Amino acid sequence: MEKDIAHIRDTAHRAIRETSNLEELEKIRIEFLGRKGALPLLLRTVKDLPEDERRHVGAEANRLREDLERALSLRHNELKKTEHEHILTNEWLDVTRPGTRHEKGHLHPVTTMLAEIERIFHSMGFETADGPEVETDFYNFEALNIPAGHPARDMWDTFWLKPIPDKIGVKPLLLRAHTSPVQIRYMQKHNPPIRIIVPGRVYRYEPTDASHEIQFHQIEGLMVDTNISVANFKAIMEMFFSRFYGKKVTIQLRPSYFPFTEPSFEIFISCVICGGKGCSVCKHTGWLELGGAGMVHPGVFKAVGYNPQDVRGFAFGLGFSRMIMMKHKIPDVRLFNAGDVRFLKQF
Ligand code: DAH
Repeated sequence: MEKDIAHIRDTAHRAIRETSNLEELEKIRIEFLGRKGALPLLLRTVKDLPEDERRHVGAEANRLREDLERALSLRHNELKKTEHEHILTNEWLDVTRPGTRHEKGHLHPVTTMLAEIERIFHSMGFETADGPEVETDFYNFEALNIPAGHPARDMWDTFWLKPIPDKIGVKPLLLRAHTSPVQIRYMQKHNPPIRIIVPGRVYRYEPTDASHEIQFHQIEGLMVDTNISVANFKAIMEMFFSRFYGKKVTIQLRPSYFPFTEPSFEIFISCVICGGKGCSVCKHTGWLELGGAGMVHPGVFKAVGYNPQDVRGFAFGLGFSRMIMMKHKIPDVRLFNAGDVRFLKQF
């Protein structure tokens, strides 16, 4: 019996010493001190021993239990400490390290510029209006004084949509080639005085290059009242462009032709890059062409049911994409829709 106790003592101590892991230590505890462990099993046989031996062995066994419990608890603390140190050296966090930045998206330059342009026009009493991108021949051409067969139709290389087969006689739809159709839509529903801008996408069936895209943005404008003149138009343009480009801009109106205005102009502004001295952007002319304009043609007023004797107005169509290109020195209009993050990140 005493030999058994000595054996348990030796093997248990060795096991406790040799283990380096807390789970294993717990297994050792169960193996020697658990309900079915070596020491309790041994204690169960003590009652069968003769009286004097029983007391001696019992005392001895109890001492061994205390001894092992102490050893287990010491080893437990030691291992806990090493484990803690391990965590401290391996799993520490440097809270002073700069964090990793999660990139947020942002608005497309066309969207931010549009908000800016609307802000300026709204402050001058203009409202924003809009209309469909899929249009009818009537709104895109006829009501704008461009009847079928009119040679001026060639000014707009138009995307025609496939005619609907069983609707014979119904004119095919098209992708609007300019924002001017919204003038008609708006005047049909409202009476003067009118002050609107119409920003929107337009489509042209033409080869693309650095300054031509099949889809781009325009800003239409329309002001109608009883006594509107070219002077009003020029003043509003000068005010708008100076605020948009953040510097004094001079306007030049050059004679042009559009079927829906009379007289018609091309709108030039003094080059915002070189201030008019001449540079590669303005092709050394000192001027940039940014759109068309004119006094609304009586035929257009008639088409919307106004009496041309009573009303007068100006209209304009600005190359919105081109305006942004001039503001940010963007060399290629195709960049707007290319989805290239390197480009977009700059705004
Ligand atoms: N719609 C014309 C175009 O896309 C631009 C334009 C010219 C608009 C004169 C107008 C205007 O409102 O009066 O080429």
